[in-house]
Amino acid sequence: MKLLLIVGARPNFIKVAPLVHAIRAHRGTAIEYKLVHTGQHYDEKMSDIFFRELGIPAPDVNLGVGSGSHARQTAAVMTSFEPVVTAEKPDYVVVFGDVNSTVACALVATKLGIKVAHVEAGLRSYDRTMPEEINRVVTDAISDPLLTPSADANENLQKEGIPESRVKLVGNIMIDALVANLPRARDSRILGELGVTQHAYAYVTLHRPSNVDDVGNLARIADELKRLGGTMPVIFPVHPRTRKQLSETEALNGKSGIRFLEPLGYHDSLCLAESARLVITDSGGLQEETTFFRTPCLTLRPNTERPITISVGSNRLTSMEQLREDIERILAKEGRLGDLPPLWDGKTAARILHELILRR
Ligand code: UD1
Repeated sequence: MKLLLIVGARPNFIKVAPLVHAIRAHRGTAIEYKLVHTGQHYDEKMSDIFFRELGIPAPDVNLGVGSGSHARQTAAVMTSFEPVVTAEKPDYVVVFGDVNSTVACALVATKLGIKVAHVEAGLRSYDRTMPEEINRVVTDAISDPLLTPSADANENLQKEGIPESRVKLVGNIMIDALVANLPRARDSRILGELGVTQHAYAYVTLHRPSNVDDVGNLARIADELKRLGGTMPVIFPVHPRTRKQLSETEALNGKSGIRFLEPLGYHDSLCLAESARLVITDSGGLQEETTFFRTPCLTLRPNTERPITISVGSNRLTSMEQLREDIERILAKEGRLGDLPPLWDGKTAARILHELILRR
């Protein structure tokens, strides 16, 4: 069996790692794979560090598409990926998550008659103003099998009329990466380097266009964070999209308790998420990681495609207007929150391989 594994952006690197390790450990059916990096993310801190920390081999192919508008980026991935699939003729193209590289490669492969397996299928925010929601809906419409992380995803796909035979609940591959990297995350020295102690700081990440593309919005959020910074240190590694906007606000000059950092590697980020008093984020991955750690999490979005992190876990949606009250509510109570959803057990990659072999 031959697989082309597609990665493009930071969360994809985390999701591909367990699958690569499962393929290497697999005995029985011979599995050949090639890793294709579209180049959507390309910086040392957005890409290379994840390959090193997660032990992912260097990509066999790098399409080098870089940044651009949605149409340009998606089109660039499509045109440069097409000759790769044609030459490689894999049994499956495996795509992950919901970034532009995911939908671009799914479209190319399907039209060439190659099966596309979608890992993390079926998630829906039901908010089509989010580019990721468009990417999810389109990718799921044309992929087979649809490998889902939680039962709500199966229900979403059923509502869209997708036959059950195309769908398989395999669990959350992010948690495979988390479980495998936990010892190294716990060895991280980031808390000491930042001079913070367990359960006595807030960990913040923001990069969604709806939060950060409008400078006024971002400044208002930064004001709330400064307020929180009066109570406890606020650790805020800044995504490049956010950095562009933040430098135009006063926030960076604030003599507040906010510590703006460069984007962090995987182990430092996991360590900070596990030990935080609370997390404030708009990232999908952090909603899941805080669920695993049972760290109280406020998601600064009107909706989430990961509702299970709310119904089972430690997550809660918030808004700029609601943020202060929600922070106070969390700080008023001690302790960890929530539970672990079924099949978030570190064994998802093995289930995915099993499924691909069965359906080939
Ligand atoms: C992308 C994904 C988003 C995911 C996020 C994780 C889409 C539509 N969005 O958003 O779902 O949550 O990745 O990080 O695919 N940049 C750099 N260095 C890099 C990459 C990007 O400086 O290595 C800057 C560029 O100026 C670029 C901007 O960040 O214009 C945004 O990058 P882009 O890939 O367009 O989207 P993200 O916001 O990163």
